[in-house]
Amino acid sequence: MTNPSLLILPGDGIGPEVMAEVRKIIDWYGAKRGMVFDVSEDLVGGCAYDAHGTPLTDETMAKAQEVDAVLLGAVGGPKYDKLDFSVKPERGLLRLRKEMDLYANLRPAQCFDALADFSSLKADVVGGLDIMIIRELTSGVYFGEPRGIIKEGNERVGINTQRYTESEIARVARSAFELARKRNNKVCSMEKANVMESGVLWRDVVQEIHDAEYPDVELSHMYADAGAMQLTRWPKQFDVIVTDNLFGDLLSDLAAMLTGSLGMLPSASLGAPMANGRPKALYEPVHGSAPDIAGQGKANPIACILSFAMALRYSFDQGAEADRLEQAVEAVLADGLRTADLIGEEGREPVSTAEMGDAIVAKLD
Ligand code: NAI
Ligand code: MG
Repeated sequence: MTNPSLLILPGDGIGPEVMAEVRKIIDWYGAKRGMVFDVSEDLVGGCAYDAHGTPLTDETMAKAQEVDAVLLGAVGGPKYDKLDFSVKPERGLLRLRKEMDLYANLRPAQCFDALADFSSLKADVVGGLDIMIIRELTSGVYFGEPRGIIKEGNERVGINTQRYTESEIARVARSAFELARKRNNKVCSMEKANVMESGVLWRDVVQEIHDAEYPDVELSHMYADAGAMQLTRWPKQFDVIVTDNLFGDLLSDLAAMLTGSLGMLPSASLGAPMANGRPKALYEPVHGSAPDIAGQGKANPIACILSFAMALRYSFDQGAEADRLEQAVEAVLADGLRTADLIGEEGREPVSTAEMGDAIVAKLD
């Protein structure tokens, strides 16, 4: 049997710093658990532009299509702000998402007990929270036509179109139900079927896929605005939430922030199953390249490390090993270790990026 393959794209700013800590974890799994990955590393974003004049070469794109999973750090930085739109670092990331057709964006909101006090909500509201928002990523109002700014009489009109086909809704619904089966068998679908036709279709198709293929999963529907209220009132009522691109953009940011710092948030973007049954997959922290702290050893590597835990769970069927890694993170936080972003008023001494990574590896032992 060949080893599972992993393409690592550290990117710019703190990307390489946090990825270096993930490499330690990957090495640990190879040495201690006999889980050897075929790891290759390549450039994406500004560093790829510097080297090749493009934020993502065709070779790297082809490689991403072949591997079992891609793990990305972050792209961008002030140095590239003046570049033409077509070669901006973000274009590298967008090209990956588009050509791999990654239509299901998984954003967990998970509260580690040690950080419950760090949330803006009460500790008993967020303590133990573990929910997953699935945002449709490749369609909806961010892509629908017609779009643009036109002139109508004396004034300008801004136009965007919310558009979803049945098959686009069906495939992301299936992602949600599959995921629910690996979790707690419960899905809440959110739209605005009360005021939007696309929402009516969304609700119908999700219900149809449920009834035909996943009757064992508990399904509920909620209007997205009510969902926003319920997420802040009592988030633990949810497990998997599935929603469209626009509502998912907002709701996933909202849910994520229930639990604390940007430096803690992982994500996965999944596409259609490949020949080996694994979904096309890109794992990355939610945060960007953090130019304000890059090169100083201050970055929190946990978001990137938890993204690798998601890869273990969703690409490599290693749920128990993913649990092990998440527990190591939890244990290090419980010991009081904090990178600078996790320090509030209490005035602890922060640990460096590498110290946090080393401590997590030590807990794995
Ligand atoms: P950002 O996420 O890079 O930083 C926002 C704030 O959070 C900064 O104060 C930063 O220091 C802090 N932060 C972020 N990640 C952290 C970590 N792991 N540990 C500790 N602190 C952390 O977002 P910003 O500043 O809006 O964008 C900076 C650059 O990153 C821009 O060029 C932007 O285009 C790019 N970007 C890239 C993304 C990606 O690669 N997926 C996503 C968001 C932004
Ligand atoms: Mg957003």
